[in-house]
Amino acid sequence: MFQRPKGTRDFGPDEMAKRQWALDAMRRIAISRGFREIQMPTFEDLELFTKKSGPGIVDELYAFKDKGNRDIALRPEMTAQVMRFFVSDMASLPKPLKLFYFGPCFRYENPQSGRYREFYQFGAEIIGSNTPETDAEAVALASALIESIGLKNYIVRVGNISILRDMLKESKLSEEKISEGLHYLDKNDEDRFSQFAKENGLSEGRALSMKSVRNTKGGIEALDKLNLCGGKDYLKEFMECISLLGIGKCQLDLGIVRGLDYYTGMVFEIDAPSLGAEKQVAGGGSYDLVPLFGGEQVFTTGFAIGFDRVLLAREKESPLSISSGIDAYVIPMSDSSRRTALEIVGALRKAGLSVDFDMMRRSLSKNLKYAAAIEAKNAIILGDKELANGAAMLRNMGTGDQKEVKIDSLAKTISGNR
Ligand code: HAM
Repeated sequence: MFQRPKGTRDFGPDEMAKRQWALDAMRRIAISRGFREIQMPTFEDLELFTKKSGPGIVDELYAFKDKGNRDIALRPEMTAQVMRFFVSDMASLPKPLKLFYFGPCFRYENPQSGRYREFYQFGAEIIGSNTPETDAEAVALASALIESIGLKNYIVRVGNISILRDMLKESKLSEEKISEGLHYLDKNDEDRFSQFAKENGLSEGRALSMKSVRNTKGGIEALDKLNLCGGKDYLKEFMECISLLGIGKCQLDLGIVRGLDYYTGMVFEIDAPSLGAEKQVAGGGSYDLVPLFGGEQVFTTGFAIGFDRVLLAREKESPLSISSGIDAYVIPMSDSSRRTALEIVGALRKAGLSVDFDMMRRSLSKNLKYAAAIEAKNAIILGDKELANGAAMLRNMGTGDQKEVKIDSLAKTISGNR
């Protein structure tokens, strides 16, 4: 027997019904806020993902040479792809350009609950508008998407990476060193950060104030305690937009650094505490990739939701039950009624109903059991006696009630009972 590759999953029909329901709900929300859907390939030139982060990231990727000896990688995320697509084909579209996307991503991770090697992201990017309300619109969409599938217990944490970044930049550190310092702060590894500060000529005062920025959390008033410059004013304005847009679950957390290297300004993460270790269900912020990919400087902000994780969290909160719920299952009772059954199936489908029928020529009791198992709302039983009257027995599978209905009226009766 074959085994699935490590870190991958199969999704059976019940699971797919839930995933499709969630995806439909999210798509509707994104479209209703003026975002339009795009799709990119699952693999790209490896360089698209190493250009910003350097070759070190290859260990975390599914990267390989194709038959033409090209270096290829399965996408670990989709933001770099959207930027490539924007530079090559979408740069002249009216701004702001509000895009969303859904699809599988691949990371060479150590699999555990909520962490997979193949996982799905639902993400969005806003291109070409540089205001606090633009960043707020990204966070507003992320939280509305999460709420659209009924998840209640989540928290949005927002920071501004430019504050810590600028403090390291002022100390004249290279981009690589800045990433290293931010990494220690991200992991809250105070000892390593202190050692890093010493080795790289950061004064004790600077290292201390960076640690206190890193630990700044809470409501907007937490900013007042900090003796800071521009990033703080931006965050204040941003938090005001968030509250005006009615997003209640947003807190400040200036320690947010994010794993990916491209963020430059506002950064945010959304946690679902019920998930434990892998509780981060979404992450994003404003970033700078377009010039690196050959385009003109343009403001970009966005996020991606971990689709699998957000569904896990939703199910933990209250289990989902999505019925496939076809309108009717047609059961011919004898060989002579099979042709009529097919005609009825064809006519009801043409009338817009969702209909299935007995293809295995089984007994009535087995068919009724099957109809219940697939959660059909009605069974249409074609007995010779009823057919002789131009009618069929319509059974409500929920209540078990049965009544004779003229074949011509089946579609209307079933639609009326929906
Ligand atoms: P990210 O934080 O790397 O950001 O991923 C976004 C979300 O994907 C995470 O919050 C998490 O829920 C989910 N995720 C990540 N890795 C895994 C995994 N191995 N298994 C299951 N879920 C996972 C990005 O990818 C950025 N592109 C987001 C962005 C868009 N920033 C700006 N625009």
